[in-house]
Parts: sequence; structure tokens; C-alpha cells
Amino acid sequence: MEQGQMRRIASLDRDQARRILVPGGAGYIGSHTCVELVQRGYQPVVVDNFVNSSPVSIERVCQITGTNDIPVIEADIRDTKRMEAVMREYECEAVIHFAGLKAVGESTTDPLNYYANNVQGSLSLLDAMESAGVKHIVFSSSATVYGTPVFLPYTEEHPLAPTNPYGMTKYTVELMLNDLVASACDINAGILRYFNPIGAHPSGKIGEDPNGIPNNLMPFVAQVAVGRRPHLNVFGNDYDTPDGTGVRDYIHVVDLAEAHIVALEKLMASPDSFTVNLGSGTGYSVLDVVKAFEKASGCEIALEFAERRPGDLPAYWADPAYALELLGWKTRLTLEDMCRDQWAWQSQNPNGYLEDQ
Ligand code: NAD
Ligand code: UD1
Repeated sequence: MEQGQMRRIASLDRDQARRILVPGGAGYIGSHTCVELVQRGYQPVVVDNFVNSSPVSIERVCQITGTNDIPVIEADIRDTKRMEAVMREYECEAVIHFAGLKAVGESTTDPLNYYANNVQGSLSLLDAMESAGVKHIVFSSSATVYGTPVFLPYTEEHPLAPTNPYGMTKYTVELMLNDLVASACDINAGILRYFNPIGAHPSGKIGEDPNGIPNNLMPFVAQVAVGRRPHLNVFGNDYDTPDGTGVRDYIHVVDLAEAHIVALEKLMASPDSFTVNLGSGTGYSVLDVVKAFEKASGCEIALEFAERRPGDLPAYWADPAYALELLGWKTRLTLEDMCRDQWAWQSQNPNGYLEDQ
């Protein structure tokens, strides 16, 4: 086949690719989902204001997938007119909405910024979708909407009682989406309640790149391993758990990214909306994670036991049964895989995306 002919076919394929708007697509989970979208024949259209990310992540997504065709629009989702214009220009069929702020501690000191970005931002996107006639939205919610466990594992029917402003913003957007889909409009929504996403793409090219001192366990452990932090503070070793440290349901970010494609395709195929847990159903303690990371990396992780972190729950994990029933999805990657891939990312990029900026 002539080269010119091949190029023409490649560009025809691209023209036919279904375009998905991905607000927050340069972030941790968004960039991994962009990889999955491209690999399944979709074209992500990324909108991000880079408040917590770098455009380098999308360059890396292009390297992983071998595409050079991911539009990146630097914009704030609160700019409704711009969002509508982008949806129209790229004829987006659906939205996978990651854009928002996510630091629980910061949300208690700067709550209005959290409501503005997460609630007002989501409202703006929904307004733009209505105007542009875009019918499907996948929304990043969090297990944090459940609050103090009344029973475990958390099922989707567990009462909702978030205990911090960040959690309240997720809960509020869930309420807004539920009201919207119950109205006469023809938008449908998939609300995904993530448990604790960790790990990275196995290539080590993309991963979580937190600003400053990491709040979350896995990026902190990984930074101790490369010598950026002297030791891990284990927040509490006197919980009522098998080894006294906090227990969580960790999920590999690649499993999570795959779930977004399955949820998207479910929404595009049927009018129903849904809310579903995305977790593995297994809880691991802080010390389990440290041991698994030491094994995967060959590095010893210095640690000190410290006071409990205010607001932390002793233990929680997901009931993943509904995700399997509804979406035919379950996690397939293990804690060992999460640690191996986290280490690939951290060891290849000890300072995150900084070097490439
Ligand atoms: P992230 O910070 O890496 O990604 C969020 C992206 O949104 C960033 O690229 C940021 O620059 C962008 N953004 C923020 N506000 C914006 C705005 N107003 N306009 C445009 N872009 C904006 O976070 P992540 O870990 O990838 O999380 C993605 C989503 O999933 C968030 O909504 C988060 O609350 C939710 N979530 C994350 C976790 C987790 O542990 N990572 C758990 C549950 C839910
Ligand atoms: C936190 C958020 C949650 C959010 C999730 C993923 C709180 C109260 N909850 O959950 O809303 O969805 O992050 O972004 O902040 N740990 C240490 N040392 C550290 C860091 C963590 O021992 O330096 C422990 C914690 O006490 C906890 C476990 O590790 O037991 C996991 O912590 P983390 O990764 O911060 O996630 P969550 O607290 O579950």
C-alpha cells in the first residue's frame, strides 16, 4: 500500500473516532483513562486548567498510545460558554468528568474553593452539556461520601454522610446529577465511587505527581523509597484492625481507568443511570502496603509510628458485587502489581513530570 494511502486511512479512522470530552484529563486518573480511551478507538478531548497537573502527562499518553492527536484545551470548567463551544467544535458524544480539587485537609481550610471548583464547576459542565446536546456523563465520586461505616463492606445502599467539605462537594454533585436525570432531560449519568486508587501505568511513563508533600499513603511511601522524604509517618497503630494500622481498599489506577470505559459504553448503550462502587473488596493495612512496596522495589521504607490523623477512619472497603453485576467489571490487578507499577513510575520519574516542563 502507498504511504499516502495509509495516511489517508489513518486520518479517516481518526475522523470516525468517537470523541469524548475529558475535563481533568491531564490529572492522575484522567491521564490513565485517556490511554484506555485511545486504545479502544476513542479520541479524548482534554480540558484542564493545570491547577494540579502538567500538560506533559498528555505528551506521555501520546507516547504510550502512539497517537499525536489528543486535543488539549487549557480552560476552567467554570467557563460554561467555552465548555459548550469545545463540545460543539469537537462534536463530543460524552463527558468523563475528573476536574476538581481533591485534598481533604485543604477542603476544611478553604471550603469555598472546593465548592466553587467541584460543585459550581460540575454545574457549569452540565449546563454546557445541555446546551450542546451532549447526553452522557461519567462522574468521579468517592467512597468518602459514605462517612463513618454503619456496616462493612460499604454497599451502594450504605447511608451517605460525608465528614468533610471535599466529601460534601462529591455528595452534592451526586444529588445534582440524580435530580437532573430524574427530570425530563435526556442526559444519563454514571456515578463512580472510587475507593483508594494507587499504582501507575506499567510503562512507568505516567503516574500520580502530587504537589508538595503527599497527603496520601502510596505517593509518600514511593517518595521515601527514592530518598525525597526521610521516613513514613504511620498515622496510628492502635486501631481495632489486625495489625493496628488503618485498612483501605486499594485499586490499581489501570483497573479504575478500564472501569470508566465500561461505564461510558453502558451509558451510550442504554438510557439508564447508575451509581456504583469501584473497589476490589479487599482491605489492606498500612503495614501490608509498606511490605508489598518494599518487596516490589527492593528498598527498605523507614517508618515511625505517629498519632492518628484527625478525621481518619480505622477501616473500610467496598462491596464490589454491584459493579460486577451491572458492568461485568471487577479488579484484576493485585497489590503487588500496584506496588511494582508505582515503583516503575517513581524510579523513572523521581521528581514527577518536573524535568520535562
Ligand atoms: P488530579 O488532581 O490528579 O486530577 C484532577 C484534574 O482536574 C487536574 O488535572 C486539575 O488540574 C484539573 N482541574 C481541577 N479543577 C479544575 C477546573 N476548575 N477546571 C479545569 N480543570 C480542573 O486528581 P485525580 O486523582 O486524578 O482525581 C480525579 C477525580 O477523581 C477528582 O474529581 C477526584 O476528586 C476524584 N477522586 C480521586 C480519588 C483519588 O484518590 N485520587 C479518589 C476518589 C475520587
Ligand atoms: C484519603 C481521603 C479520601 C480520599 C482518598 C484518596 C481523608 C480523611 N480521606 O483517604 O477522601 O478519597 O484519600 O485520595 O483524607 N497514612 C499513613 N501515613 C501517611 C499517609 C496515610 O499512615 O503519610 C495512612 C492513613 O492513616 C490511612 C491509609 O494510610 O490509614 C490511607 O491513607 P490515604 O492514602 O491518605 O487515603 P485515605 O485516608 O483512605
